[in-house]
Amino acid sequence: MTTDTRTDSLDQAELGELVESSLVDLGATVHAALAVIGDELGLYATLDETGPLTTAELAERTGTAERYVREWLRSQAAGGYVTYDPETERYSLTPEQAHLLADEDSPVFMPGAFQLVGSVAKIAPDLQEAFRTGEGIGWHEHDEDVFHGTERFFGPSYGAFLLDWIGALDGIEPRLKSGGRIVDVGCGHGAPTIRIANAYPNSTVVGIDYHDDSISVARERAASAGVADRVSFEVATAREYDGADYDLVTMFNCYHDMGDPVGVAAHVRETIQPEESWMIVEPYANDRVEENLTPFGRLGYAISTLACTPNSLSQDVGYALGAQAGEDKTREVVTEGGFTRFRRAAETPTSLVFEAKP
Ligand SMILES: C[S@@+](CC[C@H](N)C(=O)[O-])C[C@H]1O[C@@H](n2cnc3c(N)ncnc32)[C@H](O)[C@@H]1O
Repeated sequence: MTTDTRTDSLDQAELGELVESSLVDLGATVHAALAVIGDELGLYATLDETGPLTTAELAERTGTAERYVREWLRSQAAGGYVTYDPETERYSLTPEQAHLLADEDSPVFMPGAFQLVGSVAKIAPDLQEAFRTGEGIGWHEHDEDVFHGTERFFGPSYGAFLLDWIGALDGIEPRLKSGGRIVDVGCGHGAPTIRIANAYPNSTVVGIDYHDDSISVARERAASAGVADRVSFEVATAREYDGADYDLVTMFNCYHDMGDPVGVAAHVRETIQPEESWMIVEPYANDRVEENLTPFGRLGYAISTLACTPNSLSQDVGYALGAQAGEDKTREVVTEGGFTRFRRAAETPTSLVFEAKP
């Protein structure tokens, strides 16, 4: 087909919409780096604390150069992340913008997410090669910001929902209140692990991850949170961690990352008490591809392409479940590993919480 023939048959309205959405995406792509700068230099936090500021006032209060801050503020305002008042030439955050950008405990705190998406994309040259060879890329091969961004992205939602999720499991909460034994597998920097230890001081928690650097950070986090007496962290894979007769096994946003999810399920079954629960928290997803073609599904499939699928392919079996597997597929894998009971115990707009029992 010649260029002319191709151009003649184009639907101009549809093309216009595609160009428009590309413009939004182009702005969003560069916004990720600028959001991280705003977070790390305290630009959002200062706007939140002090209220409407001129570019010079914000620069002075944050010890930054006015000319950079001026350009940054204009791009933030164009994206709707900061509010500009043309009368006073001052910039500010609405309460909603502040909740999203300056409140690290908010369940919708986004700078950590921008840190994650900006840094995970740095793997693109290696990934391009992996597309040709089919080889995997391990989680540990990513930029360090991926681990910190993951912790800050997921942490606030665990703070907001973790206790509800545990409360939705069958009979687990009283056991943890009186003193139970929990293993959190694929714990990363320990964001969920430490929150469980905080909530159930009579219980003991072991965090497991194959990535030794993440385990070192998790140990530091537990010490600063004052829970090191009841949390320990060990380097191990999900298929081989030690221990038996756990009251609760948890996996937060990592089951789909495992190379051998069936083998992992079989190992969990060996380490859990017969009537107790395995809680699997996964990114929200529907069962059919066409039902996941949404903004959240797009993010899930993209991060899955960049990190989750390559990690699974880098490990033994290389099952590559993907971050948008959905309930039916997850049930299939878990039951293949020997669990007989599986149900959706809870959900949020971004998470599915499954409970499996032997
Ligand atoms: C997306 S991160 C989630 C970390 C943590 N659960 C959280 O929610 O903050 C996935 C984690 O799974 C770990 N992981 C991947 N494959 C693993 C395996 N086979 N065994 C143990 N951990 C694994 C990675 O090292 C990484 O820390």
